[in-house]
Amino acid sequence: MTKALPNIAVLGATGVVGREILNILEENKVQYNSIKFLASARSAGSTIEFKGEKHTVIEATPEVFKDINICLASAGGETSKKFAPIAAQYGCVFIDNSSAFRMDPEVPLVIAGVNDEDLRKHKGIIANPNCSTSQLMLPLKALDEKYKVKKMIVSTYQAVSGAGLKAINELTDNIKTNLVGMPYEPSAFKYEIAFNVIPQIDMFCDNGYTKEEMKVTNETRKILHFDENVKISCTAVRVPVYIGHSEAVSVEFENEVDPNEARELLKNTWGVEVRDEISDFVYPTPKDAAGKNPVYVGRIRKSIAFDNGLEFFCVADNLRIGAALNTVRIAEKVIEMELY
Ligand code: A2P
Repeated sequence: MTKALPNIAVLGATGVVGREILNILEENKVQYNSIKFLASARSAGSTIEFKGEKHTVIEATPEVFKDINICLASAGGETSKKFAPIAAQYGCVFIDNSSAFRMDPEVPLVIAGVNDEDLRKHKGIIANPNCSTSQLMLPLKALDEKYKVKKMIVSTYQAVSGAGLKAINELTDNIKTNLVGMPYEPSAFKYEIAFNVIPQIDMFCDNGYTKEEMKVTNETRKILHFDENVKISCTAVRVPVYIGHSEAVSVEFENEVDPNEARELLKNTWGVEVRDEISDFVYPTPKDAAGKNPVYVGRIRKSIAFDNGLEFFCVADNLRIGAALNTVRIAEKVIEMELY
């Protein structure tokens, strides 16, 4: 390494994803010179334990970014819109978890290990994809390289932690009140999430899809450099699971696909772990994936709906690969490729 190690910061360090970023930084080998913990004025002055030491949370202000080389941000879209351009002006690389800049043509949208070369085009801001898109990219890239994706239909089963701390607490409270037969007034979700599933994540668009569903279409195209001819459709559903998004995926390819060959290919794909032994009832579930780094794939089979089609079930920790882990991996790449 010829360049001096960077000063890094975690913006939103007190939030659900921010805390996960810190957990991953603790177990990871990211090399840095110094680290700052940023949040809003509300939690400024409070302390966070990191690597066995207590650190003071600092209020995020424009000036703070003067001395920061790389910021790992997960503090919501409005906060990112406010600080990312300022941070970039100060020469800080702002790795953003929010959706604020994902579809900006000037901003690379990256899954580490999938489209790292796009990082070279950054102008100070790098976007981390939406959680449901993120977990699909590692297996899909490998399959696309071999068989070339033509069409894809995704159904998601998304955990409540994707909607933040309030949603996590709401699931617990809702379950407790249901169990004692008390009424419950939901606020994080439109309907009760306990013992229920909700086929709406984010707001509806004019075409009847939700924003979350359109993110899967648009972000997948941007990350894998697909053109408009690759058709992608998603139905995103919230389920009463704390951690771990699941996805049922049907893909049609240009080339003929053999499920056994595809299984072997995925077994050899970095970041993917195949759990697919139906004779022993082996397939991935969110409980297995929570707290782990791989994207788990199972139920791999030839599609009876599509020609050259493959069906599979894909599960991952939405707070890790879907957010914090990829943010940390992008930071690692930025350091390794000396792009700060
Ligand atoms: P704070 O704890 O001070 O409110 P979550 O998604 O789990 O709700 O977390 C959101 C994170 O973003 C928290 O760390 C929160 O800090 C932080 N945050 C929210 N608004 C701002 C802001 N205006 N400036 C800096 N950090 C913010």
